[in-house]
Amino acid sequence: MPTTDFREPVVRASGDGLLDTTLEVREAATTIAGRAAVAYTYEGTMPGPTLRLRPGDRVRIRLVNRLGEPTNLHFHGLHVPPTGSADNPFIEVQPGEAFQYDFALPRDHPAGTFWYHPHVHGRVADQVFRGLVGAIIVEGDLDQVPAVAAAAERLLILKDTTLDAQGRVPPPNMMDLMAGREGALVTVNGALGSRLELRPGEVQRWRFVNTSNARYYLLRLAGHRLLQIAGDGGPLPAPVSLETLLLPPAKRAEVLVQAAAPGSYGLAALPYDRGAMMGMMGGGGASAEVRLLELVVRGDQVAGQLANTLPRVEDLSGDPVAARRQLVLSEAMGGPGGMVFMIDGRAFDHERVDIRSRLGTTEEWTVRNDADMDHSFHLHTNPFRVVATNGQAIAFRGWEDTVNIRAGESVTLRIRFADFPGRTVYHCHILEHEDLGMMGVVEVT
Ligand code: C2O
Ligand code: CU
Ligand code: CU
Repeated sequence: MPTTDFREPVVRASGDGLLDTTLEVREAATTIAGRAAVAYTYEGTMPGPTLRLRPGDRVRIRLVNRLGEPTNLHFHGLHVPPTGSADNPFIEVQPGEAFQYDFALPRDHPAGTFWYHPHVHGRVADQVFRGLVGAIIVEGDLDQVPAVAAAAERLLILKDTTLDAQGRVPPPNMMDLMAGREGALVTVNGALGSRLELRPGEVQRWRFVNTSNARYYLLRLAGHRLLQIAGDGGPLPAPVSLETLLLPPAKRAEVLVQAAAPGSYGLAALPYDRGAMMGMMGGGGASAEVRLLELVVRGDQVAGQLANTLPRVEDLSGDPVAARRQLVLSEAMGGPGGMVFMIDGRAFDHERVDIRSRLGTTEEWTVRNDADMDHSFHLHTNPFRVVATNGQAIAFRGWEDTVNIRAGESVTLRIRFADFPGRTVYHCHILEHEDLGMMGVVEVT
């Protein structure tokens, strides 16, 4: 595989408490996986610009739609209002029109790695697969931890797509819709085979974002362990040293990597079996191993340091539980897509409120996967902590907004609806499943 030097998307950072920018959505000629491509882009590139924010910032984004179909913006993982001109998934920006997003990031917003993508129901999978993704970074207390502050930072946006001989993204087939579409080109920041150079002993902070429709990344860096310091919703309670790290669709992780002895090491996504619809359709079986990046270690030894402790994180264990709910994920034959994906036996209806929750309360949701493949469950607006898997309590592992649920398994989530009344959604983040119905509406009043 030819190698290129590691590159990241351009950064648009806030200053003096304000980020005021434009994201034009257009189909553009660009480069993906080293090939000339025509893709859907924010500002002409895939991924789009990285938005870099601080707690307390005002965020103004003018979304200009130059596509021939409606689109909008979702700020995945940000704890901001789900209503008005904030993170409102029910907005539709029509072709040729623009919308002014305008919201404030709370002063106590956790530091972390988030992302943005479109959220018009029925079109999410196609628009994301064609390229509409970008990262959001929120700075904060985690960045003050000395070992973290000293580490050079890298952003790795994982994204797969498929290009035909003309460099265009072909339409999905039936199998793509049922299983969730995986692309033939597995890119990091839009490139294949990038090379990242470190000195022996050097510590870097890598932020991973899985922006793929359906691909699971079981990450392993040859010859190295990954010291995870943050998950979806900011810092972990303590660093965790990992041999492999699983990122289901939409999930993020931040790790510290300390370069080993001089040499060349591959970052790979190992084979992962996420199951197949009704155990059939030629799908299923493990994915093939994919090489994502080459780590080249050379030069003089440096004395890099890893973090031992992280900022304190609240765990909600003292909150009374106001409501306990059961949600069931399932799939069935039928519908125009050949399959329907459901929550509690119903496909998504934006007019229907599925769950009504009270502002200022904490709830526990047990989400059970009655289907035959993994589903990557995601809730907007309010991050959760996983308190149990399959009914067994687990230790606090930090805040999350996306959690994988294996076939036949369940997770129990504790969610505090502290602020932000209004309607928003929860869904499977295998985007074809979301578009085919595996989504519900929660209204907080
Ligand atoms: Cu990235 Cu509704 O999700
Ligand atoms: Cu989201
Ligand atoms: Cu799913």
